[in-house]
Amino acid sequence: MSRGCFITLEGGEGVGKSTNLQFVKAWLEMRGIVSVVTREPGGTGIAEKIRAILLEKADEPLSEQAELLLVFAARAQHIRQVILPALESGQWVLCDRFTDATYAYQGGGRRLDVATIEWLEHCVQGDLRPDLTLLLDAPVEIGMGRVGRRGAADRFEAERGEFFERVRQCYLSRAAQYPERYRVVDAGRPLEDVQVSLADELAAFLERQ
Ligand SMILES: Nc1ncnc2c1ncn2[C@@H]1O[C@H](COP(=O)(O)OP(=O)(O)OP(=O)(O)O)[C@@H](O)[C@H]1O
Ligand SMILES: [Mg+2]
Repeated sequence: MSRGCFITLEGGEGVGKSTNLQFVKAWLEMRGIVSVVTREPGGTGIAEKIRAILLEKADEPLSEQAELLLVFAARAQHIRQVILPALESGQWVLCDRFTDATYAYQGGGRRLDVATIEWLEHCVQGDLRPDLTLLLDAPVEIGMGRVGRRGAADRFEAERGEFFERVRQCYLSRAAQYPERYRVVDAGRPLEDVQVSLADELAAFLERQ
């Protein structure tokens, strides 16, 4: 049995990652490809507990270093419990955010040392990298406007506009750095248009397999 493909959806707040992950799953299913949908931080019982710590606005501030290590602790658990077993059994994995989000949020947003992130990536993932990363890109105000209608802000959503601008620019520069793996989709458009582009990218990806 051949190994499944690992696809990640990335982008800032409210760009449509969760909505479009379901679209990608359905698109693959129509072509006979079974996929597991999961998310980061999270995706297992323990990793979801870590997610709750990362997102909650507690009285005790979470240090930036603790945040970075918790993200990778959750990822280590997720990879071993969910991602690798699924890929090895031939299923595809569709993940709502992965390590590119760590570069974007903790590296770009919080300005933590990128060499440290690279070292943690190597320790936790070995050579596991996504086969395809779909970056949903939209101006920060558009994404924020979409999630703004959705209840109380979590610890990240409470950050300022410049933080999210750095996140967006970091994603775009990584997309330029890894053009063979990344595809940038303009997510500021109506959902139907975004999904036409996603379907084009998926068809091209399947063609390359
Ligand atoms: N292209 C689009 N045009 C208009 N609304 C959209 C579009 N894509 C998604 N939405 C809506 O925007 C909201 C946020 O979408 P979604 O939850 O999929 O984004 P997300 O990237 O997963 O957000 P988060 O970063 O908070 O997880 C939802 O109400 C969704 O229906
Ligand atoms: Mg989401």
